[in-house]
Amino acid sequence: MEKFIINGGAPLHGEVEISGAKNAALPILAASILSQDVCVIENLPCSISDVNYMMKILAHIGAKVKLINKNTVEIDSRFVNSYVISHDMTKHLRASYYFIGALLGRYGRAKVAMPGGCYLGARPIDQHIKGFELLGASVSVEDNATVDAKASKLIGSPIYLDMVSVGATVNILLAAVKAEGLTVIENAAKEPHIVDLANFLNSMGADVRGAGTDVIKVRGVEQLHGCNYSIIPDQIEAGTYMVAAAATHGNVIIKNVIPKHLESISKKLIECGAEVEEFDDAVRVSLDRRPGKCNIKTMPHPGFPTDMQPQMAVLLALADGTSIVSESIWSNRFRYADQLNRMGADIKADGQLAVVQGVEQLKGAPVKADDLRAGAAMIIAGLAASGTTEIEDILHIDRGYEDVVEKLKGIGADIKRVFCPEPNSLTNAG
Ligand code: UD1
Repeated sequence: MEKFIINGGAPLHGEVEISGAKNAALPILAASILSQDVCVIENLPCSISDVNYMMKILAHIGAKVKLINKNTVEIDSRFVNSYVISHDMTKHLRASYYFIGALLGRYGRAKVAMPGGCYLGARPIDQHIKGFELLGASVSVEDNATVDAKASKLIGSPIYLDMVSVGATVNILLAAVKAEGLTVIENAAKEPHIVDLANFLNSMGADVRGAGTDVIKVRGVEQLHGCNYSIIPDQIEAGTYMVAAAATHGNVIIKNVIPKHLESISKKLIECGAEVEEFDDAVRVSLDRRPGKCNIKTMPHPGFPTDMQPQMAVLLALADGTSIVSESIWSNRFRYADQLNRMGADIKADGQLAVVQGVEQLKGAPVKADDLRAGAAMIIAGLAASGTTEIEDILHIDRGYEDVVEKLKGIGADIKRVFCPEPNSLTNAG
């Protein structure tokens, strides 16, 4: 078991480089099996565990996955030979369910165990299934544990999503690119990673238009070919460093970003009194006084991202005044509030609403990462707090933040990763 130890209180200063986007990388890795050819994917955050698990699943179904360098892989999908993925492969991450759409698109058949991933409340997949069925697949969910989808032929169809869903938009896109005729996804998700996936599919010869708007049109093609593709920068990793800069009263240039993707985050930081300066592919964030309060409501893109809600709550926990945080995507995304309150924060969460009464100072304490973004919030809190913070369960953080210790040290943080023996092994070592 590993944990992070942070000695807080120092403002972050300097420059940090953002990695490729996890949420684009995961669907793109699944999409690579739609061609029976070789794809070279660059700017891939290879060392985060979610990407690793996706590559393991690719290898498990027969793809040849070769690491070219730290952030580039070559995937040869000619040897993919199975449409079955078992629970021990899917349990580690949510995005494993993108193989349902990708395998359906490739074989007209997918037998994929239900995914794992962060617990944020109920995470239904009814819209994915509705989409597959409208494309002509018959779908059954065996024992609530495995999705079995089959189609003798996939045929394009209009598909209206009852709610904006990133996962369903991705899965339907993957199943539709090689279907016969036109698929129109209405009320589609507009996140930057949806646009990146569509660009990747088009680089493989697909015909996807309208990604980034709420109507995506997919005209099916018979075959896809290999391609070279570079993944967009990670919006949420960038946003996390932006908030860390502000919460520590620092001054940080965050490089390799698309400032347009960060607008909803920049606007809220500015509302709290931070300075945000935009360059072509970088932003500089600074704050030299106590942050002001502001209210947050999470929404699908271009609204404020749910994946930035816990991190932003840390800044609000230190603000002068009371802020309201409203979570409209997930029913259980305030578990981190208990951890922050152990550090002296004053957050009252009830259902999908939290009232954050700002305090002047957080104090270091032993805390845990309840999930990926909650873990990011604990890091920011530890950096801003006085004294020492120990964060347990950091495997959640390793799912989505590449080289987080090295990057934070590079901008002046006092953070280290330490190995601590499991309580059992201590006893055994007797
Ligand atoms: C969502 C977020 C994404 C974030 C991720 C992890 C949105 C729109 N999506 O993506 O930004 O990275 O969580 O935090 O902000 N839903 C159904 N039925 C379905 C699919 C979804 O009811 O078949 C509901 C979900 O319960 C949720 C909402 O729709 O309330 C959005 O879900 P979805 O976008 O699919 O989740 P993720 O793809 O995990």
